[in-house]
Amino acid sequence: MTAILATRVARPGAATIADAAAILAAGGLVAFPTETVYGLGADATNGEAVARLYAAKGRPAFNPLIAHVADLPAARRLARFDADAERLAAALWPGPLTLVLPKAPGSLVAELATSALDTIAVRAPDHPVARALLDAFGKPIVAPSANRSGHVSPTTAEHVEADLAGRIDVIIDGGPTKVGVESTIVACLPASLGEPVLLRPGGVPRAAIEAALGRKLADAPASAAAEADAPLAPGMLASHYAPRTRLRLNATDVRPGEVLLAFGAPPAGASLPADRVRNLSPRGDLIEAAANLFSHLRALDALGATTIAVVPIPHEGLGEAINDRLARAAAEL
Ligand code: TXA
Ligand code: MG
Repeated sequence: MTAILATRVARPGAATIADAAAILAAGGLVAFPTETVYGLGADATNGEAVARLYAAKGRPAFNPLIAHVADLPAARRLARFDADAERLAAALWPGPLTLVLPKAPGSLVAELATSALDTIAVRAPDHPVARALLDAFGKPIVAPSANRSGHVSPTTAEHVEADLAGRIDVIIDGGPTKVGVESTIVACLPASLGEPVLLRPGGVPRAAIEAALGRKLADAPASAAAEADAPLAPGMLASHYAPRTRLRLNATDVRPGEVLLAFGAPPAGASLPADRVRNLSPRGDLIEAAANLFSHLRALDALGATTIAVVPIPHEGLGEAINDRLARAAAEL
């Protein structure tokens, strides 16, 4: 499903940065150095580019991604900063600190990039190549670590090449990264009653964060601290998006009162008014389907139907992650 690409490895420089920004603008994938580890970047506002990024990493699920920005004003367009978040960003950005914050209303970041959560992870990296790329591109760049799913994070361009050659457009080789571990992740959310919570230890030590805050950090449950994609205490941080409407998976027909989430040709005999159907990809393309998944679910959820019938989605390529999300959304009720 993922086309084989001729991955180029390029030395940083004005031409490389301009070229990489153009690749991002065209929906392509660019691996670039940050001060922590190499990131695999895509245009945060382009759902299909984000879907291609998940496909390149071979992720069986859509973990929410960090939106990288040039500076605090750019981050404020994506996320709502409370006083603690302002303090942390002022003291520690640019740098290896990621903040998980309420999503700003009207943010242009693709739903898929945040797994349709109402929170978003943002970070301003401190690396000349990452900063030059963000400046040239002029929009947020989502970037997970540039490794295949299940592998360790890459700290050299060679690591990235070993994992992702043939799956991405370009690797900017900025030499070994300085910090070598991923960014520290801190959540500042109203749901944790204003207590900043350490979600993932990383490049900024806890003491530096507590010094900037002027108080102690709360700890996430052990499972969440190990890897921030685990759910936190119920209600504190939703682990995934769930519609209010019941889902009926692997539907091969449409029953009275149902709306339909289709993929490819709709089920035989299903004739619903157009406004009761959303098709993830009429041409049966799983990348397009992933890009549309959360926005289509939201649109159907808003119709107030009894049930959303979901046709079977092929369990291959990004279909595995789509089915993972659908199963979670269905189980939530
Ligand atoms: O140093 C880093 O953070 C590197 C460089 C490239 O910036 N990036 C990185 O990304 O480590 P990734 O995707 O490998 O790890 C990001 C973590 C994931 O565990 C993800 O679940 C978590 O951040 N995360 C992202 N958005 C979140 C959110 N809204 N709530 C909770 N956790 C979130
Ligand atoms: Mg990672």
